[in-house]
Amino acid sequence: MKRTLLIAAFLAACKSQPTALVAFADRANNTTKLDVAVESGKVHAEAVTVYEPYELRDVTFRGVPAQAVLDSAYGEKWRKSEVISLVALDGYTTTVPVSRLLAHKAWFAFARTDRTDFVLDKKVPKAETVAIAPVYLVWDSVHDAAIRAEGDYGWPYQLASVRLTTFAQAFPGLAPPEHGTSEAAEGFALFTRYCATCHSLDGHGGKVGPELNAPHNVTEYWQPQWLHQWIDNPQSIRKGTAMPGMPAQVPQRQKAIAAVIAYLQAMTHGP
Ligand code: HEC
Repeated sequence: MKRTLLIAAFLAACKSQPTALVAFADRANNTTKLDVAVESGKVHAEAVTVYEPYELRDVTFRGVPAQAVLDSAYGEKWRKSEVISLVALDGYTTTVPVSRLLAHKAWFAFARTDRTDFVLDKKVPKAETVAIAPVYLVWDSVHDAAIRAEGDYGWPYQLASVRLTTFAQAFPGLAPPEHGTSEAAEGFALFTRYCATCHSLDGHGGKVGPELNAPHNVTEYWQPQWLHQWIDNPQSIRKGTAMPGMPAQVPQRQKAIAAVIAYLQAMTHGP
């Protein structure tokens, strides 16, 4: 059963420092969770200062801790889910692994404390002012070096709804066979995070880099140790290549590379 959670922010009018409520509606169940969550006081808005990865400076927002929001909407259930899909007003969907939300602090922000309009004065990737209302997902990039090292990954704005899902649902066409190994399953999650923005398998995924599974899988024509070295450090094989290696901050990086290769192998078409 798919449950959809709507998030709406209501800014109290006529106050210079906006106080805000975040309201949740469980559409599938049509429950009253919304009122309970707010009235029970389980979810509190707080001021949070983060290193803002588009303005490239510290910015203070008002927001609600993401874990508290998800707890109030789903109970413990979301913690065992794989992925949270965050859907923007225009339908654009960003996915965040649940493991990331459990390991790092994030907030659903709905206002800034330094200005009344809820916008970002972006410096990157280009200078422009963008509206981010109603909700912006921000992370503790001040105290958490791993989050800061990942720049703007996982900072979607104009968020309208949140959905619990699985990697297989979030990335149709890229899921490994169900009878596959756990290493391949782990590699699948890593591939969606670090590779699929640029690479496709059978046409599913990004277009920046070459297709890796059609008609032949890259593991069929690359020797395993060279493939590992390529993902580890592409420049050590092809000078000037546009492909970035597996990012340095990835935990257990060599194991992660091996898992991605196991995943690619699992995706190979039959003879
Ligand atoms: C920013 C985009 C980008 C990302 C992210 C990226 N790649 Fe690439 N990749 C490329 C480009 C561009 C090439 C072609 C480079 C060249 O030929 O010099 C390439 C080439 C490759 C090749 C060689 C394909 C062939 O047949 O020659 C493999 C294998 C590969 N990438 C795997 C991966 C894996 C696995 C990941 C994730 C860990 C990844 N790439 C992440 C852009 C990317």
